[in-house]
Amino acid sequence: MSEPTVDVTLMVNGAPHEVTLPPRRLLSDALRHDLGLTGTHVGCEHGVCGCCTVLLDGEPVRSCLTFAVAARGAAITTVEGLNPADGSLHPVQQAFADCHGLQCGFCTPGFLMTTCGLLAENPDPDEDEVREGIAGNLCRCTGYQNIVAAVHRAAELVSEAEEPVPAVDRPVRSAGLRADPGKAEGSGR
Ligand code: FES
Ligand code: FES
Repeated sequence: MSEPTVDVTLMVNGAPHEVTLPPRRLLSDALRHDLGLTGTHVGCEHGVCGCCTVLLDGEPVRSCLTFAVAARGAAITTVEGLNPADGSLHPVQQAFADCHGLQCGFCTPGFLMTTCGLLAENPDPDEDEVREGIAGNLCRCTGYQNIVAAVHRAAELVSEAEEPVPAVDRPVRSAGLRADPGKAEGSGR
């Protein structure tokens, strides 16, 4: 017997995507496999590493702990949504490049999205706040020093930006209500 499916419209990086998927399809799998947005990485698949972090109505969530149907009606922002149309780097990406905040890069999409969520809440975090803010993301390469420096640098670049910074300044809010906001699991922090 074939698995039942549901039709869902996912609003990802400002564009609607109509998909038909099983109710238990994870948001991480829907993004990567149904929409081809492979910038969202999947590591542990059970909420530990944070590399699958995306923004849901501006809030970091672990997409491996969130059902895709629970994101119906929400504004989903993935790492692909950070890049400006002119091909330049988003300030948070620029900061990670400036500070060598990555090596293999596997964890980086999650750190970028977590940093966006952190700076949206707290534009000028101190050292403890930065470390606490990224505590839910694991990196197996860098030793974290450069990532911490990158978050501070990102705060500087965002504060210096002349235009609103996507995913940081006034995070995108969805026009409609989410079907069940209480089911969006796994805060990225
Ligand atoms: S893949 Fe590790 S928290 Fe989601
Ligand atoms: S840069 Fe390799 S896991 Fe973080």
